[in-house]
Amino acid sequence: MVARVRNLFSKKVGLGMGAIIVLVAGIALFISRSGDATQPMRFSHKAHLKDAKCKACHADYEKQAAAGMPRLEHCVDCHDGTQSKGAEDVKEEEKLAHYAEKQEEIRWVRLYRIPDHSLFSHRLHVVRGRLECKTCHGPIEASETAPRRPVQAISMDWCMSCHKERHVTNDCNTCHR
Ligand code: HEC
Ligand code: HEC
Ligand code: HEC
Ligand code: HEC
Ligand code: HEC
Repeated sequence: MVARVRNLFSKKVGLGMGAIIVLVAGIALFISRSGDATQPMRFSHKAHLKDAKCKACHADYEKQAAAGMPRLEHCVDCHDGTQSKGAEDVKEEEKLAHYAEKQEEIRWVRLYRIPDHSLFSHRLHVVRGRLECKTCHGPIEASETAPRRPVQAISMDWCMSCHKERHVTNDCNTCHR
C-alpha cells in the first residue's frame, strides 16, 4: 500500500517535472526564436551623436571589412568621471569605471551578422561605394536605447536587389567563396 502510494506520488511528480521541463524548453525556444538582444548596459546613440562621429566607437569601417563593435577604450576616452547630469545617467555611467577597474570588456551583443559563407566589406560599401550607414542600418542615430533587433533585416535578396539597382555584379562567387 505504502509502495503503491509512493509509486503514485513519484509518477505524479514525474509528470509534474515533465511538464516543467517542457514549459522551460518552450520558453527557452521562444526567447531564442524571438531573438531579442539584451545589452549589458544602457546606451543611447542619440545622446552621443551630438558630439561624436560613428568612428569614435566603430573604429574600423574605413579600413576593414568589419565596422567594429565599441571597445572599452573608446568609452573611457571621453568618460573620465561623470559626463552626465541626471542621477540615473550617472549611475549607468559608473558601470564604465567598474569595467575599467576590472579590465573587462563590455560584451555587447551583435545584431547584424551574416553567415561565414558570405563576404561583406564595410570599407568597400562606405568608402568606395559612398553609401551612408543609415541606408543599411536605418535611423540608429535617433535611438535612445539599444535596439533589441536589427532595424533592417539582412538577406541575400536585400543585398542583390540593391546590387541590381546600382548595376553591381550579382555573380554568386563575389559574395560566396
Ligand atoms: C559613443 C559610442 C558610439 C558612437 C559614436 C556610435 N555608436 Fe553605434 N554602437 C555603440 C554601442 C555601445 C553599440 C551597442 C549597443 C547598442 O546597440 O546601442 C552600438 C551598436 C551599433 C550598431 C549595431 C551593431 C550590431 O551588429 O549589433 C550599429 C549598426 C551602429 N551602432 C551604428 C552606428 C552608426 C551608424 C553611428 C554613427 C551615426 C554610430 N553607431 C555611432 C556605440 C556607438
Ligand atoms: C565622444 C565622447 C564620448 C564617448 C566616446 C562615449 N561617451 Fe558616453 N557620454 C558622453 C557624454 C558627453 C555624455 C552625456 C550626454 C548627455 O547627457 O547629453 C555621455 C553619456 C553616457 C551615458 C548616460 C546616458 C545614456 O547614454 O544612457 C552612458 C550610459 C554612456 N555615456 C555610456 C558610454 C559607453 C558605453 C561608451 C562606449 C561605447 C561611451 N559612453 C562613449 C561622451 C562620450
Ligand atoms: C551596404 C550595407 C551597409 C552599410 C552601408 C553599412 N553597414 Fe554596417 N553592417 C552591414 C552588414 C551586412 C553587417 C554584418 C556584417 C558581417 O556579419 O560580417 C554590418 C555590421 C555592422 C556592425 C556590427 C559589427 C561589425 O564589426 O561588423 C556595425 C557596428 C556596423 N555595421 C556599423 C556601421 C556603420 C557605422 C556604418 C557607416 C559608416 C555602416 N555600418 C554601414 C551592412 C552595412
Ligand atoms: C544599398 C546598396 C547595397 C546593399 C544593400 C549591398 N551592397 Fe554590396 N555593393 C554596393 C555597391 C554600390 C558596390 C560597389 C562599390 C564600389 O566598388 O564602388 C557593392 C559591392 C559589393 C561587393 C564587391 C563586388 C565586386 O565588384 O567585386 C561585394 C562582395 C558586395 N557588395 C557584397 C554585398 C553583400 C554580401 C551585401 C548584403 C549583406 C551587400 N553587398 C549589400 C551596394 C550595396
Ligand atoms: C550580393 C551578395 C550575394 C550574391 C551575389 C549571392 N549571395 Fe547567396 N547569400 C548572400 C548572403 C548575405 C547570404 C546570407 C543571408 C542570410 O543571412 O540570411 C546568402 C545565403 C546564401 C545561401 C544559403 C541560404 C540559406 O538559407 O542559408 C545559398 C545557398 C546562397 N546564398 C547561394 C547563392 C547563389 C547560388 C548565388 C548566385 C546565383 C548567390 N548566393 C549570390 C549574399 C549573396
